[in-house]
Amino acid sequence: MSNSHLREEVEKRRTFAIISHPDAGKTTITEQLLLFGGAIRQAGSVKGKKTGNFAKSDWMEIEKQRGISVTSSVMQFDYAGKRVNILDTPGHEDFSEDTYRTLMAVDAAVMVIDTAKGIEAQTKKLFKVVKDRGIPVFTFMNKLDRDGREPLDLLSELEEVLGIESYPMNWPIGMGKGLEGLYDVFHKRVELYRPENYEGERFIPLDETGDIPKTHKLFQNAVYTQAQEDVELLVEAGNVFDEERIQNGDLTPVFFGSALTNFGVETFLSTFLQFAPEPHAHKTIEGEEISPFVEEFSGFVFKIQANMNPAHRDRIAFVRISSGTFTRGMDVTLQRTGKKVKLSNVTQFMADARENVETAVAGDIIGVYDTGNYQVGDTITEGKLKVAYEELPTFTPELFMKVTAKNVMKQKSFHKGIEQLVQEGAIQLYTTVQTGDYIIGAVGQLQFEVFQYRMLNEYNAEVVMTPMGNKIARWFKEEDFDERMSSSRNILARDRFGNPLFLFENEFAMRWFADKYPNVELESLL
Ligand code: G4P
Repeated sequence: MSNSHLREEVEKRRTFAIISHPDAGKTTITEQLLLFGGAIRQAGSVKGKKTGNFAKSDWMEIEKQRGISVTSSVMQFDYAGKRVNILDTPGHEDFSEDTYRTLMAVDAAVMVIDTAKGIEAQTKKLFKVVKDRGIPVFTFMNKLDRDGREPLDLLSELEEVLGIESYPMNWPIGMGKGLEGLYDVFHKRVELYRPENYEGERFIPLDETGDIPKTHKLFQNAVYTQAQEDVELLVEAGNVFDEERIQNGDLTPVFFGSALTNFGVETFLSTFLQFAPEPHAHKTIEGEEISPFVEEFSGFVFKIQANMNPAHRDRIAFVRISSGTFTRGMDVTLQRTGKKVKLSNVTQFMADARENVETAVAGDIIGVYDTGNYQVGDTITEGKLKVAYEELPTFTPELFMKVTAKNVMKQKSFHKGIEQLVQEGAIQLYTTVQTGDYIIGAVGQLQFEVFQYRMLNEYNAEVVMTPMGNKIARWFKEEDFDERMSSSRNILARDRFGNPLFLFENEFAMRWFADKYPNVELESLL
């Protein structure tokens, strides 16, 4: 691909993830977006809970058993001259580190919030990861067709709970049964909810005073006037629209709508694509920024998916392309080992098909067939390009299990399985200092189930897991290490790199410890 062609292609890419709390409507909005992009033909193709058709993106057997999506799949479509890549993050409470890592591979995030509920626990956690990365966040306030909270209330919550300033791109005119439309501040128009009630016109341009034409039915209607007043207040006292602040993740543009009734979704999509950033440069371990327009291909593995096809023991390494062009059959170097690999069996993901891919460019995600070469965080590069991208952060687990092999005769496969799954990033492993017990840690319950399932299916090792409940993991410096600090309420352990840490029973135990040993600095991961 010539360099100008590469540039043109990369600039078209918009790669993002949708973050939300379960049930806020992420699946519904994803479907609407795919419908606009022509990637699916009917709603219900992504998730068919009720019909018993499992989502096409649910590959693993375990997912089918539970009817939920463990995997973060990637969906691609074209819209308005842009190539859109949506990285799905599991919409279930039992999310895993994969959910977090997926956020390392995107250039922007869309945050879906249920207007009746406001900001919920999982949104908060995911937002923190996005915020730490400094990537832009776009907010979609969903379920406007139902009665929800006051829009002004929702905006202040963004600021108070998440600490992000907001700019309303549009504003609800009524809500629930009384929903009439959106006062579109950005496009200076009113978007009607039921255009059939208003001579079938969806968009009514506002006049130079910012008002709807006097002849229109909504003119001086109570809900409309309320929306106008709110907007006036926001224009006077609120934030100003600032593209740079959006790009830096300091200001979130807020869109209202209803995914289920497909209201405001297209306005959101087209405006989002206008301001969502194109693929950004990625930092190497040395701190050098590699531009996506660098001709040589490079990318990093952000997730490894095992057993997509139960008939084979295959794994797929999801690679975010950071620079250049991928072409099928190309040779790359796996930087960690220096090993040369041929990228011949590579897939790209659509909502309803896995397709073999011939070319892809920076910004795209490819799935590389893996026989056990890759680890999460690995960099692959083409030709003379010799870079290794920054390590992906490790996330502080919150749930812990003691784990042992059920069959003592199978210790070998037990250890091999654990070692590989830990390396792959499927689970985190700790060894207690006192007894040498294995403790595994996860950010979501489901990670344990996937671990147990894979240990049995891939390594033929049946494991016994004893729940330890929630713990607070805190790392500290080796020089402060002292076995006598350990107790049943603060278990002393080492992670897989040998770094010492405590697993505290609760906040109280941690405070007690901090009081007793004020000189020991405790640190969490991300
Ligand atoms: P999630 O992926 O974020 O978990 O949410 P999902 O889209 O599955 O939506 C959760 C529930 O909320 C679904 O109802 C869905 O139909 C509903 N929903 C989504 N968007 C809207 C909206 O704009 N307005 C209203 N009124 N409801 C919305 P469900 O009955 O729980 O799910 P299902 O069994 O129909 O799939």
